[in-house]
Amino acid sequence: MKIIRSIIEMQKLSNQYKLKGKIGFVPTMGCLHEGHLSLVRQSKKETDFTVVSIFVNPAQFGPNEDFKQYPRNISRDINMLKPFCIDALFYPYAKQMYPEGFSTYIQVEGSLECFEGSIRPGHFKGVATVVIKFFNILKADVAYFGQKDRQQCSVIKRMVKDLNIDIKIKILPTVREKDGLAISSRNAYLTPEEHQKALCLYDALNISKKMVEQGVKDCMFIESAMKKRILREKGVKLQYANIIDRDSFDVLSKIEKRAIAIVAVRIGRTRLIDNIALCDR
Ligand code: PAJ
Repeated sequence: MKIIRSIIEMQKLSNQYKLKGKIGFVPTMGCLHEGHLSLVRQSKKETDFTVVSIFVNPAQFGPNEDFKQYPRNISRDINMLKPFCIDALFYPYAKQMYPEGFSTYIQVEGSLECFEGSIRPGHFKGVATVVIKFFNILKADVAYFGQKDRQQCSVIKRMVKDLNIDIKIKILPTVREKDGLAISSRNAYLTPEEHQKALCLYDALNISKKMVEQGVKDCMFIESAMKKRILREKGVKLQYANIIDRDSFDVLSKIEKRAIAIVAVRIGRTRLIDNIALCDR
């Protein structure tokens, strides 16, 4: 596994890979866990060269968010990646990613600006910008993202389509703890008691799934059952619980093929999001 810090060096290496085969790319912010590793595994299976990036992207954190506090542990991450025999770990310098005078950003507008977009203003602008930079540097054939951050996936898919970027976006299932909590780097902020309370997210999502399986079609009715489950948990602040179209993030009134349930809560200082597909995967 080559560890590359310079953008120019990464571009040169990618150009070499490109001549020999298909490049798979797994963008991350590090603090790797089983969710990230599932993406790495899939890229190894499906492509000839796997590149993982680790970069805590300052542009996607709001002024009052956890950029400084975000868990970083590069030597642990390197050790976790070793057994996968990936081809390169791209771990760029922030000063090269955002040099002085940097002024170009990507903004995906419209209905995808709601939910995470409105609660975290500027977040997706930062995500889309850094992701397109990685796509340009690596020229990957396939990029792997997790269903866990479904709105992020939809923003990236929209950007790729709108800007005619020649890359395939693959979305892989959410990896969960045994108790159902979606694995996230931010789970580390939770006390054991808060972790227990956080299980109401997956509970609420399962309630919605079960109702759809039983034939309920009225989204408002399902949403109120989800909200009721979350509000039962003391110390958990509900931010949203909705049923939406997975691509546009338009709120649905009746269950349709692309319906997914999305939830976001705040527990103490920690924000958690989760979602579940209601019809197909
Ligand atoms: P990060 O939060 O590190 O996540 C990297 C990738 O891992 C994302 O595609 C995310 O959806 C996926 N992932 C996280 N938890 C997962 C889980 N439990 N199961 C499956 N996949 C999971 O998302 C980002 O970083 C950044 O926004 C990034 C795309 C790297 C841009 O900076």
